[in-house]
Amino acid sequence: MGADRAPGPGAEYVLDRLGSWVGEHLEGVGFSGKPGEVAVVPTAGGIGYRWVVMVGVGDDPDPETVRRAAGAGYRAAPRAEHLVTTLHQLPVTGALAATVEGALLAGYRYEDYRSKPSDRPVPDVGLAAPVPPGWMDTVERCRVVVEAVNAARDWVNQPPQDQGPADLAASMSALATEAGMTVEIWDEKKLTEEGMGGIMSVGRGSHRPPRLVRMIGPGEGPRLTLAGKGITFDSGGLSLKPAKNQELMKFDMSGAAAVAAAGVAISRLGLGVKVEVLAALAENMPGGGATRPGDVFTARNGKTVEVVNTDAEGRLVLADALSLGAEGSPDLMVDVATLTGATAVAVGLRYGGLYGTEDARRMVAEAAETAGERVWPLPLPPEYRKLLDSPVADMKNTGGRWAGGITAALVLQEFTGDVPWAHLDIPGPAKTKNAKHYLAAGATGFGVRTLVELAVLMERN
Ligand code: BES
Ligand code: MN
Ligand code: ZN
Repeated sequence: MGADRAPGPGAEYVLDRLGSWVGEHLEGVGFSGKPGEVAVVPTAGGIGYRWVVMVGVGDDPDPETVRRAAGAGYRAAPRAEHLVTTLHQLPVTGALAATVEGALLAGYRYEDYRSKPSDRPVPDVGLAAPVPPGWMDTVERCRVVVEAVNAARDWVNQPPQDQGPADLAASMSALATEAGMTVEIWDEKKLTEEGMGGIMSVGRGSHRPPRLVRMIGPGEGPRLTLAGKGITFDSGGLSLKPAKNQELMKFDMSGAAAVAAAGVAISRLGLGVKVEVLAALAENMPGGGATRPGDVFTARNGKTVEVVNTDAEGRLVLADALSLGAEGSPDLMVDVATLTGATAVAVGLRYGGLYGTEDARRMVAEAAETAGERVWPLPLPPEYRKLLDSPVADMKNTGGRWAGGITAALVLQEFTGDVPWAHLDIPGPAKTKNAKHYLAAGATGFGVRTLVELAVLMERN
């Protein structure tokens, strides 16, 4: 990767010189080329670029390694206005897309709430010749995907005082309409009429009433329904979270952001699937009207739930969204949610936990692999269902201390009918504390790329 070209020699000339230049200077900078390694080397102008950014990819890189290297190189480039990369020339399947995605993703910043925006220019990224045939189409496709990831990041990063359920619904609707989707927003009156008892139960304690956004894409083909948990802020409700645990709870609408953004990308790309997105939006607050531990509600599919802990709210909004989704008998239904701390305890901060019926899980795992997002399967043992038995209703909303991610998924399963279904629990990877490779600190947009790849997979099969 070269940074900030001085006026003068063209890219071919520079690349020609670059090979030998890097060869001569490798030893001097002690660069071993391990994945994640970055070295910024001033050239004193000798080869037409002021800096060379060297990024390691190891001996046998996969596309995600290339994506991360492109992002790391981009972020390391010192105050450059122009970057020219050679990473797309690596003999790696999908190297071009990975390079473009990595660099574009790394250009994301969230600065709406800074008094002074950063004075660091966002560099242009050029691809050094030679580029493969059809490269412009690949770049355009990557641009659509990255714009969707960045839309999800914007929604998630937005401070919660300025983004209640109605605000988020309007914002999602605007982007979806532009992408050619048809959109309905269900307000609290419609939600009540339609029997959405779970969403209403969660939203009751907030001055800002809940919403359901339903968006349907223009494509034709196999039917994919995406449901997302959209808690614009999770205080825990009357089962109030301790202060420390509330700090990051504006992120609790990451699942809804991911499914809405993915629906937009799938529609803009014209993929051959019929996509339906259901974003279940509510704010979980402990106001005077709030649901109490011990309250019982009836979900969209007629099942009753005893709320023993109001902080287990994501499964309640998803209960209605999944019920509604299952009514349409799609070929595949996937939900995405920052559902449980327990899943993060099980698989850590960098993996999503993947639950669901076997074929659905397999497809989502394959899509995630292609997209370079890390997920890991977890079981849904029927024998654990009894942990949810309630003395008064069809089920309780929590299953006790053990296997919290699994018992949460078992609650969801009660609302999926016989539809092939996968559930992606992303408490860890939805956000990152520190910037790294193509990630800025804050929201990551995790899940968007996997869902787009999933649509590609369904289109193909
Ligand atoms: N939104 C949280 C889950 C969460 C926790 C996401 C930490 C990201 C980081 C969810 O609504 C929640 O509070 N879950 C409870 C469930 C419990 C009350 C059964 C949890 O995980 O502790
Ligand atoms: Mn909660
Ligand atoms: Zn939550």
